[in-house]
Amino acid sequence: MTDTHTTHDALEDARNNDIKIYVNGDIVHRDDAKVSVYDSGFMLGDGMWEGMRLYDGVWSFFDDHMDRFFDSCKAVSLDVGMDRAGIMEALTATARANDMHTDVHCRLMLTRGVKVKPFQHPSLSRSGPTLVIIMEHSKPADALQSKGIRLATVPQVRGLPMAQDAKYNSHSKLNCVIACLQAEQAGADEGLMLDPHGFVNTTNACNFFIVRKGAVWTSTGDYCMNGVTRQKVIDLCHANDIPVFEKNFSLYEAYGADEAFLTGTFGAQTPVAEIDGKPIGDGHRPVTARIRDLYKDLITQDIQAQSAAV
Ligand SMILES: Cc1ncc(COP(=O)(O)O)c(C=O)c1O
Repeated sequence: MTDTHTTHDALEDARNNDIKIYVNGDIVHRDDAKVSVYDSGFMLGDGMWEGMRLYDGVWSFFDDHMDRFFDSCKAVSLDVGMDRAGIMEALTATARANDMHTDVHCRLMLTRGVKVKPFQHPSLSRSGPTLVIIMEHSKPADALQSKGIRLATVPQVRGLPMAQDAKYNSHSKLNCVIACLQAEQAGADEGLMLDPHGFVNTTNACNFFIVRKGAVWTSTGDYCMNGVTRQKVIDLCHANDIPVFEKNFSLYEAYGADEAFLTGTFGAQTPVAEIDGKPIGDGHRPVTARIRDLYKDLITQDIQAQSAAV
């Protein structure tokens, strides 16, 4: 066994062995949750997904996730077949069937559905989309907060938006999977990906930030996932007088950063311990800790606001 960590390391929870999964309106035991081998998602990675978290009965930042999801589906002419209230109903029914209330992670997946022939053309998907919702009891492993994650810069880059725009949270994540494999084979946990010009962009599964002299830097956003957590961190910095810059920077500045952290719905903010074997800072992470606290408060505010709205 290697000592690999991922930004999605969660505490073991035996209840997940018996979860129920939503498949096109049916909610069934995970062993019975199946999609066709003709499904566009299986065959081509032709689908979109969202990762969301449930805290105190509220899906955090639901509207932000739905904005991205519906924009992505529209951009690839994938008819969701319901509005965001319908998605919320499906989420609520799945959570209820599983008796889940808090510290839950969900992967909501929509594909172009079952094809009549095993070929690429979207018109071969004729029976409507496939919607699957997997919900698991999930608490990020604490060890990552103290230990931090190890990154390796990888040869696989983020492409230009006219190839496959990184803003699509598509089922096909091969670009990211290749980057992750390269990082693992270099002895790291996750891959740090550059943009086509060589500037530091993002990791294979999270957005990437550095802290230099009290200021927070992240990429321009041109080649990375438009992360909900990324935007929340940028907004929190603006609202709390923490200097924040969306700008091009190179590995030179990343290696010499005082702190670095990743953002994503699952782990919120995960500290980076090293990049390409070089330790980042001296292990003190006051800015990351402050942003983490602000983000926790923001989730609480969101729970209150969404609860008050129903
Ligand atoms: C490649 C990539 N980057 C970043 C993120 C983080 O996005 P979010 O903060 O919306 O979870 C994700 C999550 O889906 C992702 O797949």
